[in-house]
Amino acid sequence: MSILPANNADIKHAAQLLQQGRLVAFPTETVYGLGADASNPCAVNRIFQAKGRPADHPLIVHISNIDKLNDWAINIPEAAKILATHFWPGPLALILNKQPGVLLEVTGGQDTVGLRVPNHPIALALLKTFNGGIAAPSANRFCRISPTQSNHVKAELGNKVDFILEGGSCQVGVESTIIDLSGDNPTLLRPGHITRLEIETLLDTELSINSQQTEIRAPGMMALHYAPTTLAKIYPSELLPAIVGKLCYDRKKIGLLSYKQQLNINSQVSIINMPKEANTYAQNLYAALRELDSLQLDLILIEQPPESELWQAINDRLFKATSRE
Ligand code: TXA
Ligand code: MG
Repeated sequence: MSILPANNADIKHAAQLLQQGRLVAFPTETVYGLGADASNPCAVNRIFQAKGRPADHPLIVHISNIDKLNDWAINIPEAAKILATHFWPGPLALILNKQPGVLLEVTGGQDTVGLRVPNHPIALALLKTFNGGIAAPSANRFCRISPTQSNHVKAELGNKVDFILEGGSCQVGVESTIIDLSGDNPTLLRPGHITRLEIETLLDTELSINSQQTEIRAPGMMALHYAPTTLAKIYPSELLPAIVGKLCYDRKKIGLLSYKQQLNINSQVSIINMPKEANTYAQNLYAALRELDSLQLDLILIEQPPESELWQAINDRLFKATSRE
């Protein structure tokens, strides 16, 4: 059965629910978001309850267009205007100094706010109809894999979300690039589809790398984020045949997220062959991890993808998915 994308009536219903302080999951080009009215503290608190997320972890506020920047941020540097003009709507979140009225519930008690205009027709229609900012983290339980399909949201949150807008599979598949522009130096807090090089070229300046401090400010930086419940480990291609052989010999049930290695293996191994191109790999990554995670395996092996710039966001998420001992 095909699932129909949300229509105008669904969007109107979703906007009404947001006005009533309820939670609505919606598709963006990166991952599905769990949205609430960013100006309603009770609604925002519901997000934290639904996700099981600590209250001091800030949320991104989604806005409908660049003209809304001034409603949420002050002292907006030129670099923010350049990036927003160039990349919005798109998979880029900017951290800026907040307007005094922005709720501390949204910013995790900080004086900065994360803002983004998502590039998805349903998200944009919802923002326009709702006519306000929508605070939305990824629609998964805390530290788990982000949802890239509506059925992932259902599996993660069940009836903790009041309504899910159907929007098919997310095009980008990994969360937005986050740039902190609230301090003296533009800083990359989270790599994403828009690469560090693209941003550095546009701004004609080098980005700082996240410091210790950002570990608290951006939970996406924490180890064991975006993680399957099954133990997962990354190995270089050349080590895989021997490791798979040993695990099979030990009668372990294993999954393999394969990138290029063609292994001749038996039914003990569940293999997902991933695309060789970075953007399509990213698009499929979370659904693939989720599928392997559902098979009750002893271990998920991940073949190390290339380390070049285009693979930075993927390597970052794989590192976080595997950083458990
Ligand atoms: O692609 C995305 O950004 C998706 C979609 C739904 O838009 N959202 C998303 O939200 O990934 P979330 O909450 O899972 O991750 C948002 C990240 C977190 O790491 C958070 O700490 C960081 O943004 N963030 C938000 N506001 C911040 C702030 N004021 N200072 C530093 N980091 C902030
Ligand atoms: Mg998240």
